[in-house]
Amino acid sequence: MKISDFELFKSLLYERSGLVISPDKSYLLESRLTPIAKKWGLPSLESMTMQLRALPDEKLIKDIVEAMTTNETSFFRDTKPFQIFQDTILPVLLEKRKTRKSIRIWCAASSSGQEPYSLAMILKEKEAELRGWRFEIVATDISDEILDQAKRASYTQFEVQRGLPIQYLMKYFMQFGDSWQLKDEIRNMVRFSNFNLLDNMSRMGTFDIVFCRNVLIYFDEKNKGEILEKIAGQLENDGFLLLGGAETVLGITNKFTPNPEKRGLYIKSDKPASTIVSPRNASAAPSSTSSFTSSLFKRT
Ligand SMILES: C[S@@+](CC[C@H](N)C(=O)[O-])C[C@H]1O[C@@H](n2cnc3c(N)ncnc32)[C@H](O)[C@@H]1O
Repeated sequence: MKISDFELFKSLLYERSGLVISPDKSYLLESRLTPIAKKWGLPSLESMTMQLRALPDEKLIKDIVEAMTTNETSFFRDTKPFQIFQDTILPVLLEKRKTRKSIRIWCAASSSGQEPYSLAMILKEKEAELRGWRFEIVATDISDEILDQAKRASYTQFEVQRGLPIQYLMKYFMQFGDSWQLKDEIRNMVRFSNFNLLDNMSRMGTFDIVFCRNVLIYFDEKNKGEILEKIAGQLENDGFLLLGGAETVLGITNKFTPNPEKRGLYIKSDKPASTIVSPRNASAAPSSTSSFTSSLFKRT
């Protein structure tokens, strides 16, 4: 791939989704975008960049962004965060919200739905204890394609074998040939919508718990910091944030404090801004991106 074509895709992906692509990932661009070029009747990625330069079609841009998202997920992924949800967060919030009797949860990069549905199954198991409570699970993702999959809630044998306890499979899924359909009693507990983490979050309302797992790893320090600070703005002061195992707030924002005993769990902190461990990268786009290509794809 020509450097100028690589730079154009890199800039588009950064501006539209925050994804940072390094030159050693150009094979990934080629393998994921070649089918998109085919779909659009374009003979090569070079002709795709020519079309993007001449007329940046929003539908083509959306297809490119969606093709480059990594949707890897599984039921009860990493186990621990779901134990923390059940054994640490829920008891605290059930006490703190006993007058209000409602709890809002946000899965901020929900992929094909396994994460929010895992939370829904935990809550369903506690139905008797939670009688009279209102739980809202809001699940969002940048990709409409993956959201459609999440809403369908139909999973392969391989997907249900990864992390899902057998008793939940038997109780909450129906088998149709090779696939497993999640029952409506769980499906209806989750509300899916499209949301880009780079956008203003105020329309999302406030939450008691935010799961933002395994998505910040794809972003640079600047976007990580901005997203975490926006999440802090949407999280109740006594709320909880869960990040993925390879993610942290340390050195990025002072808005959250890690729980030293529960990896991945964060609460809001009120430290002054000067206590940030290291300054964030202040540049608006990856340094090698020319201002021409980066301004082509600026979101409005
Ligand atoms: C690796 S999956 C993580 C799924 C789930 N949270 C988990 O931990 O299993 C990352 C998801 O983030 C989504 N994503 C990537 N960039 C995004 C953005 N800017 N805004 C919202 N979602 C984004 C992708 O579409 C993908 O489904």
